[in-house]
Amino acid sequence: MTTTTSTSASTSTSDSISASAGKLIQPQGAQHARILSVGAYWPERVVTNDEICQTIDSSDEWIRQRSGIVSRRWAAKDESVTDMAEIAAREAIERAGLTGSDIDGVLVATVTHPYQTPSSAALLAHRVGATPAAAMDLSAACAGFCHGVALAENMVRGGSARYVLVVGVEKLSDFTDVTDRSTAFIFGDGAGAVVIGPSDSPGIGPTMWGSDGAAWDVIQQKHSWIDVRDHEADWPALRMAGQSVFRWAVWQMAPVARKTLEASGIEPQDLAAFIPHQANARIIDAMCKQLGLPESVPVARDIAETGNTSAASIPLAMHRMLGDGSAPSGGLALLIGFGAGLVYASQVVILP
Ligand code: UT7
Repeated sequence: MTTTTSTSASTSTSDSISASAGKLIQPQGAQHARILSVGAYWPERVVTNDEICQTIDSSDEWIRQRSGIVSRRWAAKDESVTDMAEIAAREAIERAGLTGSDIDGVLVATVTHPYQTPSSAALLAHRVGATPAAAMDLSAACAGFCHGVALAENMVRGGSARYVLVVGVEKLSDFTDVTDRSTAFIFGDGAGAVVIGPSDSPGIGPTMWGSDGAAWDVIQQKHSWIDVRDHEADWPALRMAGQSVFRWAVWQMAPVARKTLEASGIEPQDLAAFIPHQANARIIDAMCKQLGLPESVPVARDIAETGNTSAASIPLAMHRMLGDGSAPSGGLALLIGFGAGLVYASQVVILP
């Protein structure tokens, strides 16, 4: 008797659970998404190789030959990650023909926002008038921008946002030891932003992404904040095992880029631009060779004047190529970001 009552009670409970669950409305997104616009900000101050060589034993010639960097920009002391992001974001929003209130998602890719919490993204959303947009920072180092593009594309198609602002921004000068010969010359500051929104046709292809935490220590902050607090560790600037990262980038990232093309149904000769993370000009050259990229495909080389700006490097390079006419609006561009983690992400997009 007891058993029968219990079974029918549990049946009716599970029926009512199923009935309630059946009422749940699923979000409906756009059929496709694309990058609508790009904005950029280069800080005013140009830092030459000669200036860098005042604190390390190096030369302008060595830095140019080994990295392709001629100069980089450094933000002013009182210029924050969010300040730089705001300038790039305002340009991207205006160029998309939108206002801040149209933006309902804000993703800021950065590893140099100097607050553990709150995020730069929440403040940025407020500053551009996007409140109450969903806002969060992404920690995926030099691959952060491509992670943001992938998430924004999914948000627009999944129906959790209509217009997403994706920013890659870094103030690496705050986290660089100017006396460290292996990193002092490589990093720079800047911000790049895009708006991703609905589209009638595919504008962002499949993302190939991944991580390899076994190599967690090849690019990392020298110390944790706990070490700084409890063990009097010095300022936790970035350190890098340059050669290990170089080899990984050259040998592991070209196959990822090739897979991205295959998954997107695109041949190298279909590309109107190749915009890899601006890590080192020699890495870019090696990737072009391994990909069998025809000479006719324009390749981003913003590193010469911007240095390596981690999450900001791809949107900055994209902005420069569209601005100087070396890449056409509406053309297909292969993007690939890779860096600390180790992590990487790559996709083919239609240029705004
Ligand atoms: O953005 C995130 C991902 N980051 C990257 O992808 C960066 C990857 N790594 C690199 O781009 C390169 O490893 C660097 C540009 C950082 C360094 O270039 P490298 O060709 O790998 O230099 P190396 O460390 O193998 O050093 C070569 C030589 C050494 O001298 P010997 O042993 O051959 O006599 C170094 O002592 O160059 C020397 N060296 C320098 N010389 C002048 C190392 N750093 C310097 C320097 N100036 N700053």
